[in-house]
Amino acid sequence: FEILPFQKELIQWYKQEKRNLPWRKDQDPYKVWVSEIMLQQTRVDTVIPYFNQFIHKFPTIDALANADEEDVLKAWEGLGYYSRVRNLQSAVKEVKENYGGIVPNDPDEISKLKGVGPYTKGAILSIAYNIPEPAVDGNVMRVISRILTIWEDIAKPKTRKIFEESIYQLISQEDPSSFNQALMELGATICTPTSPSCLLCPVREHCAAFHEGVQKELPVKSKK
Ligand code: ADE
Repeated sequence: FEILPFQKELIQWYKQEKRNLPWRKDQDPYKVWVSEIMLQQTRVDTVIPYFNQFIHKFPTIDALANADEEDVLKAWEGLGYYSRVRNLQSAVKEVKENYGGIVPNDPDEISKLKGVGPYTKGAILSIAYNIPEPAVDGNVMRVISRILTIWEDIAKPKTRKIFEESIYQLISQEDPSSFNQALMELGATICTPTSPSCLLCPVREHCAAFHEGVQKELPVKSKK
């Protein structure tokens, strides 16, 4: 497997083709955090107006830390899974009080924050701070399972670690932010669940599943 050409083609494609999404305008860790929490259980198209409105009302860590919970819940109304935003506000208060208002860039410190699991940790560290950490969600497992033909059951909680190990090997050290976002973008737009558009894929020559013609058999996902 040729890692450098793979990284180069993936990142070049991302830079040219990425969708213009509001959380991609800058690398503010707070905005990356809000967007990733919203995107965890909600589709991109639904998230866009909520994200814009939320950032308009609560533009900074300080603004969200100081806001009334009632106003915060109101801004989330319709997104559901309200524990997400309750956890977000308590974590933001913690950042204000214990980290001088700066989202920590240390994997162990950021993991201590309420609601920040392995995925959110990796997303913030890589996208905002350009630290080479994996950010593994369902989309990324699908893409990587195909590229490397990983036949592990993605429904099993233990499987995420296997993908994290693989991504540590693959991730660009120069531009981990674009690398991880490119995997997300590929999963959202080309490497889709039932009919992947391999002929449009920038990395099909690096994709074991494409070469073997098994892209539609991957990822393996048992019914629980
Ligand atoms: N899904 C999860 N995170 C995302 C991001 N940063 N951009 C687009 N889709 C996503």
